[in-house]
Amino acid sequence: MESSIVSGKTKICGVIGDPIEHTMSPVMHNAAFKKLGLDYIYIPFRVRAEELAQAVDGIRALNIRGLNVTIPHKVAIIPMLDGLDPVAEKIGAVNTIVNNDGNLRGYNTDASGFLRALLEGGGEPEGKNIVILGAGGASRAISYILAEKGAHLTILNRQLELDWAEVIAELILEDFEMEVRVLELGFENLAAALAGADILINATSVGMSPNSEESPVPADLLKPELVVFDIVYNPIKTKLLKDAEAAGARIVVGVDMLTWQGALAFEKWTEQPAPFDLMRKKAVKALGGA
Ligand code: ATR
Repeated sequence: MESSIVSGKTKICGVIGDPIEHTMSPVMHNAAFKKLGLDYIYIPFRVRAEELAQAVDGIRALNIRGLNVTIPHKVAIIPMLDGLDPVAEKIGAVNTIVNNDGNLRGYNTDASGFLRALLEGGGEPEGKNIVILGAGGASRAISYILAEKGAHLTILNRQLELDWAEVIAELILEDFEMEVRVLELGFENLAAALAGADILINATSVGMSPNSEESPVPADLLKPELVVFDIVYNPIKTKLLKDAEAAGARIVVGVDMLTWQGALAFEKWTEQPAPFDLMRKKAVKALGGA
């Protein structure tokens, strides 16, 4: 079989979102299909919010094997699916769909991909004190999966009037009977939280290109005992991660989470182990890295 040629048997995967022009998923997945000699293709689809239901019907009608789901559809798509992985249900967001004969099941490989990247980077979460910055969608997924693994969490967020961090804390208390400390993001609280921390995670967008000179944490609060994970992947090494490295800390780059979320989705569609190193190399290249 020549894997680069589309045939009547080719299985179709893709990503739906709006905008979609800047997605890096097609290069990662198509390279992976080719490397494994799989007769699959991965295509980006721009889907408007108001046409999401038609697009989901289209997955069934066109017999698309699987999709990634990105902004703005990760939450809205949930009631349109036939089943949900329990973690995706709790987090309230889906980034991966598998189509088995018209039955659409939703997963969240952002959460499982984050966890895999952390584990591969040497950050075993069980029993550890973990500080998470931010309380948006990414933070919710990360916090939930870390609580499930038995970590002790402190969430720092800047927006105290509309307190999403409290919402996350309540969910975790209900499901795992675990107290989450919620603090306002500021120097004093950061210093106090980091004093007893094992792992620090930036789940805010602070430091993302073009604001790559910014960091959510003053450099002098970082220490060698920490594992520092930044979910921002552009630039590949953020200011926070550079400062962490200079302080002697172990770092995990956001590209590892991006690649693992793709790799775990790939494995659900193809039922084959994903070629992680190749996918990571393609993602780094697409980001303009080496
Ligand atoms: P995502 O889906 O990536 O989590 P999001 O839901 O928009 O995106 O959440 C982004 C997080 O980064 C939020 O916690 C946001 O804080 P607010 O809840 O106060 O908006 C946080 N964030 C974004 N810019 C920030 C900044 N300059 N300083 C601190 N936190 C910031």
